[in-house]
Amino acid sequence: MPATIRRIGVLTGGGDAPGLNAVIRAVVKSGVNANCEVIGLEDSFDGLIEPDRWRTLEPKDVTGILRVGGTILGTTNRGNPFLYPIETSAGTRDYSARCVEMFHHLDLDALVVIGGDGTLAIAHRFAQMGLPLVGVPKTIDNDIVETTNTFGFDTAVSFATDAIDRLHVTAEAHHRVIVVEVMGRYAGWIALYSGMAGGADVILIPEIPYDLDKVAQRIRDRDRMGARFSIVVAAEGARPVGGNPTVIKAAEGEFVERLGGVAAVVAAQLETLTGKETRSVVLGHLQRGGTPTSFDRLLATRFGARAVELLLEGTFDHMVAFHPPDIVAVPLEKVVGRTRTVPHDFDVLRAARAMGISLGE
Ligand code: F6P
Repeated sequence: MPATIRRIGVLTGGGDAPGLNAVIRAVVKSGVNANCEVIGLEDSFDGLIEPDRWRTLEPKDVTGILRVGGTILGTTNRGNPFLYPIETSAGTRDYSARCVEMFHHLDLDALVVIGGDGTLAIAHRFAQMGLPLVGVPKTIDNDIVETTNTFGFDTAVSFATDAIDRLHVTAEAHHRVIVVEVMGRYAGWIALYSGMAGGADVILIPEIPYDLDKVAQRIRDRDRMGARFSIVVAAEGARPVGGNPTVIKAAEGEFVERLGGVAAVVAAQLETLTGKETRSVVLGHLQRGGTPTSFDRLLATRFGARAVELLLEGTFDHMVAFHPPDIVAVPLEKVVGRTRTVPHDFDVLRAARAMGISLGE
């Protein structure tokens, strides 16, 4: 017999991604329609530190948020409850034990944990400690294994594609090279998809270390055929052959390594190698803001409704996942500790090579 679920907590963890609010809305509407109370927890697992960092979410509280980016619950990508003690109103406490205590204190029966790889790994550990929960994969990076898509990715790719379209216009007018840096951490999905959709001439991804002599050759070839401008899309995690990614800030304490700066490095070197005026642009957090695309709204909505369905049927310690055309449940243990990168035999890479797009190899 499935456990009786009457009160469901929902939280969002890690970097925000367009579609988080759409998941919250689906959890609230489908949960309430199934006679459950839905409790919104603030700022990821921090919402389980104190007895007053939650609010009841009624359908009226989520009306109109489908199309809004960000998260009405707040989020954080600091503070793994299993690594650090925490200051609470009751003194310094073991963070994870405090979360379990607060889960029971708030009379919760289950949790929906919406987050990326870090948050899902934390969720899995809580599930192993006995908290009934389901994870929902989120990230603009699309780097979570066992799901073909995470919500937020399509929106980020659409934004980056639009930016590349705009940069084409000005690069062509001035006969310049423009290097565009996109996010994605250690995976090249955003760079590859936006680069292909935007018609980039060069795409640099972490999975294929680059050789700028090869890239410069491609730019010179374009000049010779009369295309006197070039667009280079660089993933923030791209790295030269034998080198490392460009890092703004090394990992420290509870903060992970912050990537960034590769576009400026690549632009300076390409200017020297080609003699062409070369500029760089970093799209940064613009990729995470804005309204989710229809694809991301639908995926997020399906994820949220399915997460509630799984809780009600008693399937815990799983993540909802997109296996087109279905939303399925995948055990969290198959997900944690792994990163989904672009496979070397991926057809989009083959298409790029076939079309003469340089991958820096
Ligand atoms: O994981 C999403 C992401 O936007 C990455 O693409 C990027 O490297 C990172 O988060 C940036 O994180 P923050 O907003 O903490 O700097």
